[in-house]
Amino acid sequence: MDILLLGSGGREHALALKLAQSPLCARLLVAPGNPGMEKLATLLPSLDILDGDAVAEFARANGVGLVVVGPEAPLAAGVADALNAAGIPVFGPSAAAARLEASKAFTKALCDEADIPTARYRRFDGLEPALAYSNAHALPVVVKADGLAAGKGVTVAATHAEAEAVLRELFAEPGAEVVIEECLVGEEVSFFVLADGRTALPLLAAQDHKRVGDGDSGPNTGGMGAYAPARVFTPELQARAMADIIEPTLAAMAARGTPFTGVLFCGLMLTADGPKLIEYNVRFGDPECQVLMALMESDLAEILLAGAQGRLHTVEARWKPEVAAVVVVAARGYPGTPAKGGLIDGLDEAGATGATILQAGTSRDAEGRLIASGGRVLGVVGTGPTVAAATGQAYAAIKSISFADGFCRADIGWREIARERAAS
Ligand code: AMP
Ligand code: GLY
Repeated sequence: MDILLLGSGGREHALALKLAQSPLCARLLVAPGNPGMEKLATLLPSLDILDGDAVAEFARANGVGLVVVGPEAPLAAGVADALNAAGIPVFGPSAAAARLEASKAFTKALCDEADIPTARYRRFDGLEPALAYSNAHALPVVVKADGLAAGKGVTVAATHAEAEAVLRELFAEPGAEVVIEECLVGEEVSFFVLADGRTALPLLAAQDHKRVGDGDSGPNTGGMGAYAPARVFTPELQARAMADIIEPTLAAMAARGTPFTGVLFCGLMLTADGPKLIEYNVRFGDPECQVLMALMESDLAEILLAGAQGRLHTVEARWKPEVAAVVVVAARGYPGTPAKGGLIDGLDEAGATGATILQAGTSRDAEGRLIASGGRVLGVVGTGPTVAAATGQAYAAIKSISFADGFCRADIGWREIARERAAS
C-alpha cells in the first residue's frame, strides 16, 4: 500500500525511515517532509496538512492505504476526522479526542472525574484571585499559561515573589487564563501507549531533556535529547501507570463517545506516591520518537494500520534489547530566535560511524546545499548496550558534522549514566 506521512521534523524523519522499511509499504509520501527524507519518500511540499479536506482528497485520489499524522496541529484541526469520514485509514485521534493535548482544562476535568493521580490545581482568569491563591500556596508553586496565553510555558517558582512576577506578566495579556499547580517532585518520563479505542498497547518509556543547557539549565525547549528505554520506569511502575492513569483515561474517552485512537504520550512524574500525570500529548514525542524507532523491531506500518483499523489486539510491539539515545543539534539562538541559513556538511561521514543522522529544521539553498532553517536542526541517534555507549556513538558522529551555527547539550542521559556508573 501507499502510506502518507504528515510532518517535517526529526520525529517524522524517524517514522519515515521505519515506514519505508516495511514490506507493506509500496510507496511512501511525506507532506511536507524535509531534505533528509528525499531518498526515502516522495515529498509533497505544497499539500496543506492543516486542511483535512485537502488531505482526504489527495489520499483518495492517490489510493493511499494509511495516513500517519506526526504533529499535533493537524489532529487538533480535524484532519483525522476528515480522513475517517472519507473511509481512509488514519493513525491519529479525532479533534475531540485530541483535546487531551489541546486543552489542559479538559484533561484536568477528566482526571478529577476518573480519579487519575495528577497535580492539584486551580484555574484563574484574573490576577487578584490568582495572586491570593499563589501567595498562600506551598513552595515551589507551578504557574502555567493556558487558553489564549498557552505557549508561554511553565514556571516552577521557588519563591512567592517569582510566582507573582510571572502571574503579573501572564495577566498583562488580555484574556489570559492561568493554572496554578502543586509541584510534583521526582523523575520525569515520557511513556507511549498505542490505542485503537478498545485495546491499549504499551510501547516504551523514554527520558527527554527539556532544558537548553547542560545540567538541565536555561529555558525549556521542545527537547534537546532523549534515551530509551527509561529503566527508572520499572515494570511495576508501568503496571501502576496503566491501571491508575491510562486505562481510566481511555475508558473515560470511550464513555464520552470520543474514543482515543492513536498514540497517547503520557508525561509522568515518578513521585514517592507513584506515577502522576503531568500532561498528555496525542502524538509521538520529538525527540523521543527517534529513540523508539531506533529500538523497534516490529513492522511499524503493520502496527499503525492495525491501530487505525481497531485491530491492535492482533499485533505486538517487539524491541531490540539495547539502548538508543538521540542528541539534538540546534541552531544558535534556540529556543529564542535561531540563526538561519548556516551551511551543514559532513552528514555522510557522520552516518558512516554507525549513528543515524536525522534531519529536522533543514532546507536547501538556491545551489542545493543543505542549510539550517529551524531551531532544532539535526538529531543524531546512537545505540549500544548502555546509555553511556549509545550517547558515546552519537557524540562521536557529531564530531564529523560541520555546522558553524550548531550546538548541542554535552550531557544527554546524565541521570542514567550516573546510575550505570554506580552499578558497575
Ligand atoms: P508542560 O508545558 O505541561 O509540558 O510542562 C513542561 C514541563 O514543566 C514538564 O515537562 C515538567 O518538567 C514541568 N512541569 C509541569 N507541570 C509540573 C508540575 N505540576 N510539577 C513539576 N513540574 C512540572
Ligand atoms: N519532547 C517533548 C514533546 O514532544 O512534546
